[in-house]
Amino acid sequence: MNSEQDAERAAFLRREIARHDRLYHVLDRPEIADAEYDALFAELKALEARRPELVVAESPTQRVGAAPLAGFATVAHDPPLLSLDNTYDEADVREWHQRLLDHLGVTALDSPLAAEPKLDGLSCRLVYERGRLVLAATRGNGDQGEDVTANVRTIASVPLLLADGAPPRLDLRGEVVMPRKEFDQLNRALAAAGEKTYANPRNLAAGTLRQLDPQKVAQRPLEFRVWALGRVDGAPLPATHSAAMQWLGELGFKTVARDGCVGDLDAVLRWYRELLARRDEFPIELDGVVLKVDAFALQERLGFTARSPRFARAWKFPARQATTRVRDIVVQVGRTGTLTPVAVLEPVQLSGVTITHVTLHNAAEIARLDVRIGDLVLVERSGDVIPKVVQVAEGARSGAEREFQFPAACPECATAVVKDADFVAVRCPNAACPARLLRGLEHFVGRSAFDLEGFGEKLLAQLIAGGHVRTPADLFRLDFDTLRNLERMGDKSARNLLERIAAAKRRPLERFLFALGIPDIGETAAQQIAHHFATLERVRAATREEVEAIHGLGPASAASLVDFMQSEPGKALLDALAAAGVAALPAAPAGGGPFEGRTFLFTGTLPTLTRAEAEARVKARGGTLLSGVSRKLSYLVVGDAPGSKLKKAQELAIPVLDEAQFLALLERGPEAGA
Ligand code: IVH
Repeated sequence: MNSEQDAERAAFLRREIARHDRLYHVLDRPEIADAEYDALFAELKALEARRPELVVAESPTQRVGAAPLAGFATVAHDPPLLSLDNTYDEADVREWHQRLLDHLGVTALDSPLAAEPKLDGLSCRLVYERGRLVLAATRGNGDQGEDVTANVRTIASVPLLLADGAPPRLDLRGEVVMPRKEFDQLNRALAAAGEKTYANPRNLAAGTLRQLDPQKVAQRPLEFRVWALGRVDGAPLPATHSAAMQWLGELGFKTVARDGCVGDLDAVLRWYRELLARRDEFPIELDGVVLKVDAFALQERLGFTARSPRFARAWKFPARQATTRVRDIVVQVGRTGTLTPVAVLEPVQLSGVTITHVTLHNAAEIARLDVRIGDLVLVERSGDVIPKVVQVAEGARSGAEREFQFPAACPECATAVVKDADFVAVRCPNAACPARLLRGLEHFVGRSAFDLEGFGEKLLAQLIAGGHVRTPADLFRLDFDTLRNLERMGDKSARNLLERIAAAKRRPLERFLFALGIPDIGETAAQQIAHHFATLERVRAATREEVEAIHGLGPASAASLVDFMQSEPGKALLDALAAAGVAALPAAPAGGGPFEGRTFLFTGTLPTLTRAEAEARVKARGGTLLSGVSRKLSYLVVGDAPGSKLKKAQELAIPVLDEAQFLALLERGPEAGA
């Protein structure tokens, strides 16, 4: 090929690759397979190797610069990168809105509001000249930042060359983030390599952007999303923020506006609630939303205070991470005897809940975190996940912190503990340990088990301490005098408890089995077993082969069930329950029931039922559960914070029930044709 043809081919390949980069990284709409993309890339690389004079800075092969940097140059920002004032609730937002009206001397705003997710990453400023990326800089102190161009060039969603129609000079601002999935993967890889992990995606993104070696940055999947236009020279400005975002999208950027909403105050308030409910489904960690007056003319009239614009506000989500101190580390003894270390914290607010205790799981986890009594720690609560310690602020140590020693004896019954070969699990081997008994009884009386309301931890502890209850069967032998003589117990309460005990003597087989607290037999396994064998007698007589044949039941659960049924303590407990008059109601065989052929999906938190309970009730009546909203769904049951599923169900005209309606439906059976 002659040099002209090579030059043309190189230009074609550069355009094609840039187009596919945009389709994949910006629009999430790839048109070709990875292998085809790789082939285009390899061809361009080979061509450029053969003809080095064809290499240009905007070539996709040049995203990663050659040599590591010695440091970052300082960049002045004009206009400066400001920050946002925060609001925390609807009242704050309404007050801000009213202040806008007062400032403008109007009763209604002559512009909608633009609302966008607030990405939890790092501000970054990009400058393009004649369509080419010439500068990327961090926010720094707002007036001056650092030149991180070499690093930002490696981010695939940052176009090196803009589409046609780009102005001679364009200055824009956005957020560099690491999507949550990539963050988790990277953190796991770092942990496996014995390296220090990062507390959150923002820290990892920040650490990456300040790497001096662009080669390393290129291996970390950062993303860039635009949130504002800076200065534009040589082209007319759009009239609104939303139009500007649309334009930037056409020039090749991913913007935050594509996940946002433009509307009046009420629309924006509604959108905030929806986004908060869907927070965990969003691929990037969000710390709230940003509200902006959409029209640039009004933005200008509203202007700025010292450090922030009047026309925009951040509305923060409840924090999921907070720093607090470890007051103590205590040990809890579980139902199966496992000793679990638990950090006692100075109370701290997390996602609107006060956290006072957080599990540290085991000795290995304590070693991994190197957490000590007195340490300042970062705790996190994601979605409905239980809180955890993410990181210790080692730099904040005074020297007075104490390392935690695992006790050699059970803190409850003083029996010497036994350790696993790998020291991960430490157990109290004493089956009569009062702590084990207490946890076992709590499980037995739990809502998904015997559902014995009123038997709280304090009452059970008293019954154990008084020698009245040594096994769950003893609960059914309690008499009026024993209960009446307990602390803070009146005649009426004692009689109520006795009534509940009498009523609990008949429980469905699946609950009965679950209540026994057999290792690896959770609610679902208990249901499967109950439906398969139908009666307790058959479960007691089952062989391992028979149990293993139950579809969907794991081998560990099968082994555990048979071991329990054939063990002396297991047999003794079942005999004692039978002797006390407790019986398991036979289960309906699998596949039958009034709701056969009907499908259910739950979303949000129900006021009284746990998700597991609600689902168990559906299955017990022959219904099935779906994992997403589709035309196949018969009913969507919604609780608090229902999220996007509700919207979709409404669009598909699928019946939506709240908990009370759901329970009523189960009672009455499905309507014909529903
Ligand atoms: S607008 C004058 N929009 O939040 C500053 N900022 O707490 C205008 N951020 O420094 C900022 N998502 O780094 C804006 N959709 C969004 C944003 C956003 C994240 C960051 C940004 C800013 C910080 C302020």
